[in-house]
Amino acid sequence: MRNFLGKSVAVGAIAMLALTACGSGREGDSKTAGGSAKGFAADSLIGVALPAKTSENWVLAKDLFDKGLTEAGFKADVQHAGASTTVADQQAQITAMVTKGAKVIVIGATDAAQLSTQVAAAKKAGVKVIAYDRLILNTPDLDYYVAFDNFKVGQLQGTALLEGMKKKKAKGPYTIELFSGSPDDNNAGVFFNGAMDVLKPEIDKGNVVVGSKQTDVKQTATQGWKAEEAQKRMDSLLTSTYGNKELDGVLSPNDTLARAIIQSIKGAGKTVPVVTGQDSEVESVKSIVKGEQYMTINKDTRNLVKETITMIKALQAGTEPQINDTKSYNNGNKIVPTYLLPPVAVTKDNAAEAYANDPTLGPLTKG
Ligand code: BGC
Repeated sequence: MRNFLGKSVAVGAIAMLALTACGSGREGDSKTAGGSAKGFAADSLIGVALPAKTSENWVLAKDLFDKGLTEAGFKADVQHAGASTTVADQQAQITAMVTKGAKVIVIGATDAAQLSTQVAAAKKAGVKVIAYDRLILNTPDLDYYVAFDNFKVGQLQGTALLEGMKKKKAKGPYTIELFSGSPDDNNAGVFFNGAMDVLKPEIDKGNVVVGSKQTDVKQTATQGWKAEEAQKRMDSLLTSTYGNKELDGVLSPNDTLARAIIQSIKGAGKTVPVVTGQDSEVESVKSIVKGEQYMTINKDTRNLVKETITMIKALQAGTEPQINDTKSYNNGNKIVPTYLLPPVAVTKDNAAEAYANDPTLGPLTKG
């Protein structure tokens, strides 16, 4: 099902662009590629509905959308869902954006499966909908998806986990635990599948052992991506399984959870194993530089927001936004035309290089 943006996909994407270009105006186009767009006024309202601030990237995204959309001449309405009633909040925010006359609504879904009614209403009002970072499921009305390659993120985490453990201990078997993100976020499963794509063959060969035997995504889930949930689960795994056993590694899907897991392990008086992460959060980059958390993923939010605004500008001008993936993201109703950006794995070894152009993270790598 997955592709890795190899040559054949790139050719397929170009072919699809060519098809939509010469086919614009023909019946049926709107269903396949987001609409025979007529464009809209250059100072139109653009809505951006983001999840609660469960990780730094969402906080950064609001700032960047506010600035970037305003600089591009649009009016911006950028909102986070509240911390407790996230789904209802986001549904109401999207509905209000449609009522206010937004021409495009960008959504980082709080719950992938709970937005089809709002997306349908947007479509009916002629609004283009772009899923940002997280896919929206079970709707034929979603126009585009823009994200970092989520499966690749998981693969990079799995690969780094194995490498990190081998560096510390030349020979296995290695004992690990697995954590995944929130089940209502479509990304959580994709990250996990990407990581298992790398780890499962090693588990099957017996080179890697999951100490608790909890290898199902349901057992490893962290509701709401909440740090306290991950910490609680790690605490109980340590009690149930690691009384006198060593733990070599933990697959953590992001930085917020990685730090919670590390805290739990330190609290139990154990040596910090190889722990993965994602998002390049400030505290995690500091931890990597000092040799505690093993790795993170750089998904530069500035690039993702920039790419989204490029899509919006294309829609404003009445042209088809550029996409580079027409295979990977089936949302249950359609394959959503997608633009994927490449994620980068970062360890202590390449942190300075990876963040060289980042004004916040770059200086943290300079000792
Ligand atoms: C994002 C991650 C983030 C997580 C929790 C995911 O959908 O892709 O970057 O760590 O949500 O906020």
